[in-house]
Amino acid sequence: MFDLVIRGARLGLAEGWDEGDIGVAAGRIAAIGRNLRGGVEIDGAGRWLLPGGIDAHCHLDQPDWGGARCHDDYGSGGRAAILGGTTTLVPFAMPAPGQTMREGLARALARAGGQCPVDYGFHAVATPQTGPLAEQVPALVAAGAPSVKAFMTYEGFAMQDGHLLDLMQLCRAHGANVLVHAENDAILRWMRKRLAGRACGHFGPHLLIHAEAAERDAVARMGVLAEVTGARVVIVHVSGRAGLEELARAQARGAAILGETCPQYVMLDASVLAGPPERALRALFAPPPRAAGAAEALWQALAGGGLALWSSDHSPCPLEDRFPAGAPHDFAHAVSGVPGLETRLPILFSEGLAAGRLSLARYLDLSASAAADLYGIAGKGRIAPGEDADLVLWNPATRWQVRGAEGQSKTGYSPFEGMWLTGRPETVILRGHVLMRDGAPLPGPPRGRFLHRRPADPGQFRSPLEESTPWTVS
Ligand code: URP
Ligand code: ZN
Ligand code: ZN
Repeated sequence: MFDLVIRGARLGLAEGWDEGDIGVAAGRIAAIGRNLRGGVEIDGAGRWLLPGGIDAHCHLDQPDWGGARCHDDYGSGGRAAILGGTTTLVPFAMPAPGQTMREGLARALARAGGQCPVDYGFHAVATPQTGPLAEQVPALVAAGAPSVKAFMTYEGFAMQDGHLLDLMQLCRAHGANVLVHAENDAILRWMRKRLAGRACGHFGPHLLIHAEAAERDAVARMGVLAEVTGARVVIVHVSGRAGLEELARAQARGAAILGETCPQYVMLDASVLAGPPERALRALFAPPPRAAGAAEALWQALAGGGLALWSSDHSPCPLEDRFPAGAPHDFAHAVSGVPGLETRLPILFSEGLAAGRLSLARYLDLSASAAADLYGIAGKGRIAPGEDADLVLWNPATRWQVRGAEGQSKTGYSPFEGMWLTGRPETVILRGHVLMRDGAPLPGPPRGRFLHRRPADPGQFRSPLEESTPWTVS
């Protein structure tokens, strides 16, 4: 007799689709079989059972940033995740101004503890102000946060190449990943200055400021820095063809560089920003969506493995905070960021798996297992004996319309407002605890636990520069 049995669902396993029961004991998947019996039984007939999602790029309860208020805390963000079939989050441990990376991690741990209803880890964040790297990187790895995010742009955040190289070398040595927001800072600044004062009643200039060429240059440069250091780099929110091309070039040279994209880059295109301002304000994020054809190129890369990760970049900037107090309501002063925790996985299910753009294997990778493997999240991301029982029962036939106001995020809007999706999470289970049943979140204490993530074996990182040079520095 198991603690919990999910009976007769269509099971999304690494080996392919199967039909049967899942037995859960002590929070883990104990058996996959038929005619299993449990203290609690959930009927899965006509439903698809898939792993709980892992969203490894989201912003929750961050200190105010460039005038931006982070509207979701770990409670509302975690509840939004559950609604969207996600049972693990890896947000950023953003330091408050003046704090080090380690203090940023301590802050995030204190704020998530006892609040977050799903399991969580943290990426550290490095800026020019977050203190010396040499003692912090090993300490962060030892504390279970073997990944550091850096920005190539944004006032107060942009890292110069030398600083990036130091960070990458240390991360490589300690088995940590480096995540990068890749846009050429000089281009953004120059274009912003050039356009200053030319208010035009819409948000089209956001596309010029965050030009695709700025992303191309930054991704290409990160490819070169990855070659030089041998560090493993993740380019977050790759927005279109230019980023994809530069990723592929660097990968072909042997650089350990991976790409992530997000639903907003396949569901929206640039035209939304030049349209009515009230619609554009619900779709203001950086880098922005690109020309209409970019989505198909991104889907192909998701299907073929050219992109490794699918994350929300949930950045819960409320519409009423789009503009800092007293600032003109135009493109030059708007704060970027949109919510996405509730829609990340439903969009992957609907537009990827159900629409036939993705195989089951790629859906499984992108929903959870790729993030688990890359970011060292042990025991999660798959339906297999011994894994945590993080499970989602989907009704594959439900047709529903995205309505941000009906969700759990405090932002109350969605960049995908009004879009129709096929398939919806009905029952969500975290380590054997049922958090949502028949589409309704269940009351109960927040059950999220901090995940002490494992670093990679530094020996597995190749260094194209060292390998092609006839002597080495030890
Ligand atoms: O517009 C965005 N993406 N805001 C969130 C911060 C970031 O750059 O990921
Ligand atoms: Zn970013
Ligand atoms: Zn982000």
